[in-house]
Amino acid sequence: MSTVKGFPEHFLWGGAIAANQAEGAFDADGKGLSTADMVPYFEKKDYVNLKELMHVTSESIEKAMAHKSAAGYPKRYGIDFYHRYKEDIALFAELGFKVFRLSINWPRIFPNGDDAQPNEAGLQFYDNVFDELRKYNIEPLVTLSHYEMPMALVLKYGGWANRKVVDFYVKYAETVMNRYKDKVKYWLTFNEINTTLIEPFTGGGIVEDRYDNFLEASYQALHHQFVASSMATKLGREINPEFRIGCMLARMIHYPATSSPDDVHQALVDNQFNLLHTDVQVRGEYPPFLARYFEENGIHLIKEPGDDQLLRENTVDFISFSYYTSLVSTVTPEKYGVTGGNLYSTVKNPHLERNEWGWQLDPVGLRTVLKEMYDRYRIPLFIVENGLGARDTVEADGSINDDYRIDYLRQHLTQVKEAILDGVDVMGYTMWGAIDIISASTSEMSKRYGVIYVDQDDQGNGTLNRYRKKSFAWYQKVIRTNGEDM
Ligand code: BG6
Repeated sequence: MSTVKGFPEHFLWGGAIAANQAEGAFDADGKGLSTADMVPYFEKKDYVNLKELMHVTSESIEKAMAHKSAAGYPKRYGIDFYHRYKEDIALFAELGFKVFRLSINWPRIFPNGDDAQPNEAGLQFYDNVFDELRKYNIEPLVTLSHYEMPMALVLKYGGWANRKVVDFYVKYAETVMNRYKDKVKYWLTFNEINTTLIEPFTGGGIVEDRYDNFLEASYQALHHQFVASSMATKLGREINPEFRIGCMLARMIHYPATSSPDDVHQALVDNQFNLLHTDVQVRGEYPPFLARYFEENGIHLIKEPGDDQLLRENTVDFISFSYYTSLVSTVTPEKYGVTGGNLYSTVKNPHLERNEWGWQLDPVGLRTVLKEMYDRYRIPLFIVENGLGARDTVEADGSINDDYRIDYLRQHLTQVKEAILDGVDVMGYTMWGAIDIISASTSEMSKRYGVIYVDQDDQGNGTLNRYRKKSFAWYQKVIRTNGEDM
């Protein structure tokens, strides 16, 4: 048995973005509207509940559909990556990125989702992006669906609750996997697939006021995504056996608030609900505890013959996940007070500090997650999102001294290294929003994650010029020394 000394030689260092938060150009070159284009900017009262933050109802959708410009809808203008990708990729190359995670904007390829032919201009755009990355030897890591399904599939079919959407997704996946088979090796089928249960519009195009049993519709949508993911995985392997195809989970580790057996059990249950997604996508079957839950909640999952076999036979090559924060479980939440978190709120952990949005900062939790998931599944893990959302100040001399971000990243990477020393197989690390982008949950520009600053405010004013923050040189050094000098 050899002893691991630190980050492996070919560790995939890089950064990540999503099309809907970065590209902008929401109606350029034949692109259709996406679910993300429906989310308006509004001043927040608090940051506790993502559902409130997204604010999407039948009524708000109607309003958004009638609103033809990008003004007031930040994800429609993003940071104009669509026109500035060359400049941005040059900066990623300067950072030394080995990998860059991005998503393909599904309605750029199939504007209505059910079109007979793909939109050539959309396909060409990603050819250009992948070629640009190749110029610098940066490997693309492509998410097929990251909160940006064609809005027409929501309006006409009811989103992922409708089985027909599986076919549209598979056609889309086949189109892009074929087109980019020699340019892209790493694929993720769905971003944070568990969002479909937590915020079903963002994750699955499910509008709450259109369903009597919203929970049932959400689980049905999730089942369709599992099936679609397996089909795309199967197809991908036929298209190019060299592909490496992964799932993607927002890992939300829950700690018991106390050592009371009830709290400990509650934490176990909350972790089971989070890990049910990787259970299906890695082990190939639904975990047994769900049967009782479905029965008690009137959830009648409709499966087609062959679904179970498909899930069993087409599991993923690796698990990718996002990790920002940890959560706390208890049977007596009223005792503790609530704080915000990734996708939903949680009770406060007195041992942790919180960022301005309430997310609890817990680097050790990342080590725990890596070890626990590797113990459970024993396949390679890839951290494809991690980072600190913070407000940055541009000093009079133009510098941005984001020591808090350096601290956050250093503390988390130190724990990644510890997990690797503990024997966990970690493929890579792509920090979230290597360049500042629009926030997924709040649509703010001022919630920044990047080591590259983008001059734009919450209302969309600014030059869009890019500047290197202090963390830029720090991350560059970390990559150059393969994590030796942090
Ligand atoms: C993840 C999403 O949940 O968290 C990203 O995959 C998102 O799209 C990231 O941007 C950070 O969340 P937020 O809401 O701070 O942008």
